[in-house]
Amino acid sequence: MDSAAAKLNSMKKFDADASNYAQTSDGKFCARVYPAILDELNRDEGQTILDIGCGTGILLSQVKDRSNLCGLDLSAGMIEQAKLKLGDRAELVVGDAENLPWPEGFFDTVLCSFSFHHYPKPDAVLREMYRVLKTGGRLILADPWMPPPFLQLMNLMIRFSRSGDFHEYSKKEIMRLLHSSGFRIDRYRHPTQDTFLLTAEKE
Ligand SMILES: C[S@@+](CC[C@H](N)C(=O)[O-])C[C@H]1O[C@@H](n2cnc3c(N)ncnc32)[C@H](O)[C@@H]1O
Repeated sequence: MDSAAAKLNSMKKFDADASNYAQTSDGKFCARVYPAILDELNRDEGQTILDIGCGTGILLSQVKDRSNLCGLDLSAGMIEQAKLKLGDRAELVVGDAENLPWPEGFFDTVLCSFSFHHYPKPDAVLREMYRVLKTGGRLILADPWMPPPFLQLMNLMIRFSRSGDFHEYSKKEIMRLLHSSGFRIDRYRHPTQDTFLLTAEKE
C-alpha cells in the first residue's frame, strides 16, 4: 500500500471511530498501557509536551502540572474530541507527523502512543521528533508488538489493512531506526505481552 492510501485509511478510520474511541477495540487496546505511559510522562519535569497522534487527547488530559501541552493528529474527528476534553488547556492541531508545525528545540517531551505503526515514512517522522525536541529532551514511544514469527506474519497481513496500519516493529528494527535518527535509547520494555514502551533521549 502506498503512503497516501495508508494515510487516507487512517484518517477515515479514526474520523469514524472518534466519538466512540474509548469503547473501540483500538481504544481498549491502548488504554491498558496508559498507566505505564503516564508514569513515564510524570517523571519528566519539563513544561512542554507534544503528543503526536494524540487521538482524543486522553493522555494530555491526565498528565500532571505542565504549562504547555500540544497535540497533533491526522484525524480532524479525533482533534475535535481532544478539543472537547482539553478546551484551551492545549494547542491541538490537525496535521501529519511528517511535518510538525513547531520550531526546532521547542519541546521537553515528545510522546507517541500507538500511532507510530501507522506511519509510512517512520524515518521522516523520527527526524521531525528529533528536530522539535530540546537537547536532552525525551521521546516516549509506545506501539503494538508481537514476538516472532507472529510479527512477521502480522506485517504480511498489514498490507491489506484498511485501518491505516503500516508496519509493526521488532526491538531490533525500532532500535536501529532510533539510533540512525540520533536518539539514545534509555529503556525498552513490554508493559503488556503485545506492546512495547521505550524512552529515548536527544543527545
Ligand atoms: C490507535 S490511535 C492512538 C491514539 C492515542 N495516541 C492513544 O494512545 O489512544 C492512532 C492515532 O494516530 C493518528 N495518526 C495516524 N497516522 C498519523 C499521522 N501520519 N500523523 C498524525 N497522526 C496520525 C490517528 O489518526 C489516530 O488518532
